[in-house]
Amino acid sequence: MQEHLIIFDTTLRDGEQSPGASMTKEEKVRIAWQLERMRVDVIEAGFPAASNGDFEAVKAVADSVKESTVCALARAIEVDIQRAGEALKCAKSSRIHTFIATSPIHMQNKLRMAPEQVIEQAVKAVKWARRYTDNVEFSPEDAGRSEVDFLCRILELVIDAGATTLNIPDTVGYTMPDQFGKLINQLRERIPNSDKAIFSVHCHNDLGLAVANSLTAVMNGARQIECTINGLGERAGNASLEEIVMAVRTRQDYFPCDTRIDATHIVSASKLVSSITGFPVQPNKAIVGANAFAHESGIHQDGVLKHRETYEIMRAEDVGWGENKLLLGKHSGRNAFRTRLTELGIEFESEEMLNSMFARFKELADKKHEIFDEDLQALASDEVIVSHECFRLVSLIVHSETGEVPYARIVISENGNEIHAEARGSGPVDATFRAIESLLNSESQLQLYSVNNITSGTDAQGEVTVRLYKSDRIVNGQGADTDIVVASAKAYLNALNKLCHKLERAHPQV
Ligand code: KIV
Ligand code: ZN
Repeated sequence: MQEHLIIFDTTLRDGEQSPGASMTKEEKVRIAWQLERMRVDVIEAGFPAASNGDFEAVKAVADSVKESTVCALARAIEVDIQRAGEALKCAKSSRIHTFIATSPIHMQNKLRMAPEQVIEQAVKAVKWARRYTDNVEFSPEDAGRSEVDFLCRILELVIDAGATTLNIPDTVGYTMPDQFGKLINQLRERIPNSDKAIFSVHCHNDLGLAVANSLTAVMNGARQIECTINGLGERAGNASLEEIVMAVRTRQDYFPCDTRIDATHIVSASKLVSSITGFPVQPNKAIVGANAFAHESGIHQDGVLKHRETYEIMRAEDVGWGENKLLLGKHSGRNAFRTRLTELGIEFESEEMLNSMFARFKELADKKHEIFDEDLQALASDEVIVSHECFRLVSLIVHSETGEVPYARIVISENGNEIHAEARGSGPVDATFRAIESLLNSESQLQLYSVNNITSGTDAQGEVTVRLYKSDRIVNGQGADTDIVVASAKAYLNALNKLCHKLERAHPQV
């Protein structure tokens, strides 16, 4: 009987800390449902003390998730813990995750606290958290650069204070696998009451070692891994959930434990997170990249056709590739449409919203006769965006002809009033963006423009991501349409809408 390796997903918290990846409450709930469907053990839904919006988002996840434990992050201060406890009040199963930095460099320069004060604060924080739940996780931030003796002291005391999970973060992605494995081993050996808590790890990918470090920690007794879909997270990201789960599953001859994840939902989770955040998945990304199971060379193809295991160590269908095939078409009715949305975890705020989505689904089905789950996901994201935005695309005419300068004429609704503009540019997308800028004059800088096809074929919807930068803020905008110039206009407007919402939110680690 294999031991249980707990999967703690932090896509909605650390993942959301990636510049430009911030998510709305509705988006968080959609991702949380997908994580629950995958049987993730713990979902870290956010940092409620960051802002009222973050509080509401964590609360919404806590209120709607039933199978997974919902966790909220809190600094080791009383108000943060109070906010976390309140946000989790209605969760069926809740956890508070509190943390304080323990490395000399963080204690001296960031906290400006003496080590003894840090210990005192950590113990108090765990006790405050225990007022709200008996499931309390403690992290010594920057453990990878902390002194082992100090870690042993603080961790022993927080266990005594009631911490049930000890999470060891390699906050800056600095450690080497062997070194990190030894650290976990030493902590387990040297802390007298270490058997009273589960050891967890949280590795960042600055040197590309997050998954290797996490797996080495498992070989040294860690039984929880903190990870994210597509490896999203601060800077170079966190350990990727799909890589961890499939490494452990594929090498059951090696690992003494396994997860409870239903891996067949991995690809749809990856696509959902990519579509909501606008962070594309690189084609050669393990497990979820478009090429992860593609064989180009003749020798490989021949080998795979004769005997799959010659070049494949996992089956594409086991992680959800090839699922979500044709589901709906232009003759599908409203009920089939509603049922599929519900199965995908897509909520609609009202019957009007459902009607509007159904009308847009019919329009799409006229242009593209096979509608896949990914199309419905894009449609839902678009509907949420459109219903909350102050700038909306009303119409767009573009002219592009060999030897001519491309031209765009656009109509935008600004809080219900229609405004018009036209512009020329080096291509139809450039002309469209110039026309929008001539109206809205955002003074932002375009940092990224990318187009991906949502499904295959030339009739597929193109999903465009636009990243804009202005006054220290980065936002990602998304738009989808079978016409990529229209998708580009929607994405640009979506980013501008986000820029005009001032977000006052605290960062937990600054
Ligand atoms: O990277 C880190 O140290 C964190 C902590 C809050 C656990 O994200
Ligand atoms: Zn982190």
